[in-house]
Amino acid sequence: MKECNVYVTRMLPKPAMELLKENCQVEINPEDRVLSKKELLEKVKGRDAVLCLLTDTVSEKVLEAAGPACKIFANYAVGYNNIDIKSATKGGIIVTNTPGVLTNTTADLAWSLLFAVARRIVESDKYTREEEFKGWAPMLFLGRDITGKTLGVIGTGRVGANFAKKSKGFEMKLLYNDLRRNEKFEEETAATYVDKETLLRESDFISIHVPLLPTTKHMIGKKEFKLMKKTAVLINTSRGPVIEEKALVKALKEGEIWGAGLDVYENEPALESGLAELDNVVIVPHIGSATVETRTSMALMAAKNIIAVLKGETPLQCVNPEVLKKIG
Ligand code: DGY
Repeated sequence: MKECNVYVTRMLPKPAMELLKENCQVEINPEDRVLSKKELLEKVKGRDAVLCLLTDTVSEKVLEAAGPACKIFANYAVGYNNIDIKSATKGGIIVTNTPGVLTNTTADLAWSLLFAVARRIVESDKYTREEEFKGWAPMLFLGRDITGKTLGVIGTGRVGANFAKKSKGFEMKLLYNDLRRNEKFEEETAATYVDKETLLRESDFISIHVPLLPTTKHMIGKKEFKLMKKTAVLINTSRGPVIEEKALVKALKEGEIWGAGLDVYENEPALESGLAELDNVVIVPHIGSATVETRTSMALMAAKNIIAVLKGETPLQCVNPEVLKKIG
């Protein structure tokens, strides 16, 4: 175990790095940047385990480059669309993620964006800092009420359900859409299941919480914006490509919707042209899970997954359990 050789693609919170170092030989990318494709291919070579990030594209080539000794790629994220799971499974490599520990934090960010857009916090802050504030004015930065409005939640996994539950204090009418009805969620929230079109038509606030899959890519585009209320606010803390960003810029520019709050982008880190010039969008740099507590918990979870697998034990969670069965 102590001889096991682990590569970490970027520096992560100290407690997790120390835990790994107590148990194995660890090399960490010394630079605070994403590795190039070439560097990643080189660095994973001959490792027993790799701790990777959502910014690392772990293709079949990367998995093959790691070689036959490699047992696990532990992703430092709940989403794992950056990893070719099929190839990992074929190659007998376990892939783990970090669910649970970031649920509250990501849902909280979705609420922060919702408030920031509805009450025009970013615009108002800039205005005040720039000494434009000359005194109370009846029409200054009129926003949108939140209490008592209709909230549409798309996707009721951990984060979506947590986000929805937090609406209780605001006495909101809750609509949701998912692949299928979620009875447990309905019991907990009194939410009503509706089809996507009804949700888009009736909601004042819409928040997206689906994983990025071929079926969810561009699930919100030109046609969907046309269905939304002109006063609607759209929030996305899931994955950028779920929204067709070009159509979003057009919808925001032309007043098809009232505003948007985004943590993620279609071609991250690039922004669709025109997005950053709009006042009715609040944009933050993929910080859904970015709190000291949560990032530390995520790193510890990834490290514990690696240690468990290298010891021949079952990891805390695994996104391709077929491999665990094969290993027995
Ligand atoms: C995740 O874990 O998938 C988040 O996007 C990271 O912040």
